[in-house]
Amino acid sequence: MTSGLDTVRAPKPVSRERRKTASAEELLAVRAVRRADLEQVIAIDASVTGLEKRRYWERVFRRYGLAAAREQRWFVVAVQGERVVGFLIGEVRDWEFGSPPCGWVFAIDVDPHARQQGIGTRLLDEAKARFARAGVSKLRTLLHRDNLLILSFFRSQGLMAGPLIPLEMELGSS
Ligand SMILES: CC(C)(COP(=O)(O)OP(=O)(O)OC[C@H]1O[C@@H](n2cnc3c(N)ncnc32)[C@H](O)[C@@H]1OP(=O)(O)O)[C@@H](O)C(=O)NCCC(=O)NCCS
Repeated sequence: MTSGLDTVRAPKPVSRERRKTASAEELLAVRAVRRADLEQVIAIDASVTGLEKRRYWERVFRRYGLAAAREQRWFVVAVQGERVVGFLIGEVRDWEFGSPPCGWVFAIDVDPHARQQGIGTRLLDEAKARFARAGVSKLRTLLHRDNLLILSFFRSQGLMAGPLIPLEMELGSS
């Protein structure tokens, strides 16, 4: 995850509704990931994080892309024709952290060349619909406190600070 500080834009005068009439938006589809999409997913992630995590993505594909329990966990891509322009991974987690079942979004990325066209919103709408079908009424995510881009995005979608706080420690140092 990048800090996003350099990519958070100033408010722009063009209304969202006007941009949504663009043909790119009309051609957009969101569907379950296929193996043939994986190279493009890896490339988008590498362009965002600077790391090509091929083995990680193979594991994620096996766990979320091929998962039998599609209602509980899934991996979707936004495509324009054959081109993958974004992806989102979500999972329903039951009774973890003392919480009733809720839907976690633990990865969302849009190709830097395809941003600010509503693709992230479409991906999150798909997540909301899938979580609703799975019977959960709360969506959660975690983000780095310095990542203003992803924070702006999630705030724009209606997410607010929740009751959980992350805790961590270094292991093996004492
Ligand atoms: C965050 C991200 C998914 C947004 O995708 P996107 O397709 O550009 O988002 P949308 O076009 O649907 O934008 C929805 C809203 O998000 C906010 N937003 C999006 N880009 C923004 C930017 N650069 N600066 C400020 N706000 C922004 C706006 O409120 C926007 O609504 P508006 O267009 O009506 O103003 C995308 O920028 C991304 O992949 N970022 C880096 C990846 C990352 O850090 N992922 C987290 C790892 S889990």
